[in-house]
Amino acid sequence: MRIDIITCLPRLLDSPFNDSILKRAQEKGIVTVAVHDLRNHATDRHRTTDDYAFGGGAGMVMMIEPIHRCISSLQSERTYDEIIYMSPDGELLTQSIANQLSLNQNLIFLCGHYKGVDERVREHLVTREISIGDYVLSGGELAAAVLADSIIRLLPGVLSDETSALTDSFQDGVLAPEVYTRPSDYNGWKVPDVLLAGNSAHIEDWKYENALKRTKKRRPGLLEGD
Ligand code: ADE
Repeated sequence: MRIDIITCLPRLLDSPFNDSILKRAQEKGIVTVAVHDLRNHATDRHRTTDDYAFGGGAGMVMMIEPIHRCISSLQSERTYDEIIYMSPDGELLTQSIANQLSLNQNLIFLCGHYKGVDERVREHLVTREISIGDYVLSGGELAAAVLADSIIRLLPGVLSDETSALTDSFQDGVLAPEVYTRPSDYNGWKVPDVLLAGNSAHIEDWKYENALKRTKKRRPGLLEGD
């Protein structure tokens, strides 16, 4: 898979992709993440990528031309499955969207800033808009990193068996069960007996019941298909 991220603040994305699982996924050749500085696609000598809003109002608007030039140059290299604009008014990211996007070959993520992008970018260039939650971030970069992480960890070969994504919360429409490690008794706070007894059928039943109980208590909406 290849993910191209378009941003006017490329340094914000240095660290998320240069550590741990996302770094290893790139080293193993499973994913290529390329970050593109929008300012390199500006047409004036000040490398301007934003301007005042027509009709007035506070805040700058990201201009269509540098964005179009950047997207077109990427499209001249390969075909993209989706061009995703990160925006608080996009569709809410869920595990099911991450699963679906992980099946694609080439994705572009466009990060907005200030008051966002000229509406014509959304109308004519973008194929999908995604929000990572009902709150407003300073820009789309951290949201793009979250979306990329949620997708990349699902790609075959990225996680070991031990950390397999199949047992994650949300993957079966329920939260993951509780987990424990040594010591089995810490100051009188005990690990459930069933996990120590070594009967794998009982352990599997317990995990299933525990996951259901936890979901009913914390996120009942998940069981009702919300
Ligand atoms: N940009 C600003 N806030 C955002 C959010 N919640 N999700 C995606 N992109 C954003």
